Amino acid sequence: MDKFIIEGGNRLGGEVEIKGAKNSILPILAATLLTEDEFVIENVPLLRDIFTMKKVLETLGASVSFDQNVISVDTRGTVGYEAPYELVKQMRASYYVLGPLLGRLGRARVSLPGGCAIGPRPVDLHIKGLRELGANISVVHGYIEGFADKLEGSYIFLEGTNGPSVGATINTMMAASRASGNTIIEGAAMEPEVMDVANFLNRCGAKIRGHGTRRIEIKGVKELSGCRYRVIPDRIEAGTFAVAAAITKGEVFLQNAEGSHLEAVLKKLEEIGVSISRERNGIKVKMDKEINSTDIETGPYPGFPTDMQAQFTSLLSLSNGVSLVRDKVFEGRFMHVPELVRMGANLRRKSDYVIVKGVPFLSGAKVMASDLRASAALVLAGLAASGTTEIRRIYHIDRGYENIEKRLQSLGAQIWRRGE
Ligand code: EPZ
Repeated sequence: MDKFIIEGGNRLGGEVEIKGAKNSILPILAATLLTEDEFVIENVPLLRDIFTMKKVLETLGASVSFDQNVISVDTRGTVGYEAPYELVKQMRASYYVLGPLLGRLGRARVSLPGGCAIGPRPVDLHIKGLRELGANISVVHGYIEGFADKLEGSYIFLEGTNGPSVGATINTMMAASRASGNTIIEGAAMEPEVMDVANFLNRCGAKIRGHGTRRIEIKGVKELSGCRYRVIPDRIEAGTFAVAAAITKGEVFLQNAEGSHLEAVLKKLEEIGVSISRERNGIKVKMDKEINSTDIETGPYPGFPTDMQAQFTSLLSLSNGVSLVRDKVFEGRFMHVPELVRMGANLRRKSDYVIVKGVPFLSGAKVMASDLRASAALVLAGLAASGTTEIRRIYHIDRGYENIEKRLQSLGAQIWRRGE
């Protein structure tokens, strides 16, 4: 297992290219199973999660090949209907094959993903959406099994107690695009990744309207075809590099970053004292002041993303006051907190929030990564800390950031990957 060694204290400067959005590509790859054809997806980062989805598609009978950042998928011929535990346990998003397999074959068997480091993560809304389209869904022997002679369009209210669900909205939308008749998803998630998947499906011949709002209308079609599609830039990767610039008092241009997808994050950075300039082909981030404290509460898009909560906790650890960071989407997503405390942060966790009392400096320590964004938070803390930080279990970070250490090095960071 690899680890990162970071010598903190360097200001970052220069330009970094933001890659394609992981959380768009995963469902788009699954959506290729909706029909028998060839697809070319551009702007695909080389990430562990994408390779896992490649394996899931191959296990189901599709051919998948990579050429740099372009992925080709061929779903012609027969496909299987089962996504096994061995793959789903590596990556929850494997459950995205459920909707497409039901839409194409009327049959799917997908392992239940189970819990993960950021909380319990139920799948009841996925099941609800697919049931309302007429699928018969049961949970047996740790698998979600679904059958449907025919999927029928329906009115579906999909919001859960914690708000809308990105995954359930996308799974239901994918299946409904091949149902007969019209479907309305009320209480839909509005995240840019949901929009991206809908745009991809429309490019393949689906008839989806209203994506990007709380109400999505889908007119089911008999046939979909293959297409060529370029995914949006990853807003969480852009946000993470923005925090890297801010926490090291640097100046970085985030090439290709889409400011309109990041408004809540950029506004918070501005409140903290960071200067942001939204440019035609990216965003410039510059920090030369002390870090102001501020409160953060995560929420569904266009709210502040839960996927940026850990990184901001690192940043606010070095602020000039007291901040309150609350995660209302994943209430237990605080595995980074005890690790940041080991680096000298003054953090006190209470149920779904953390009180962050700013300290003048962090000091390097040996820490353990627990999930993707928690690992990013530790890297950011390490870049700002004095001395050496050693982060173990960095395979988590490889799930969501392509070659992060090389890209940080090109901005002037001292970070190295080492075998343990
Ligand atoms: C997606 O997860 C992302 N993953 C997550 O990114 C992201 O944190 C999350 O959306 C929220 O933005 C992918 O896109 C692959 P949800 P998802 O369903 O779809 C509750 C990262 O770091 N809920 O929108 O699984 C759920 O518990 C990852 O890149 C139900 O109650 O999230 C949560 O409180 C981690 N029942 C809320 O909804 C359900 O059936 C939102 O979760 C489903 C979800």
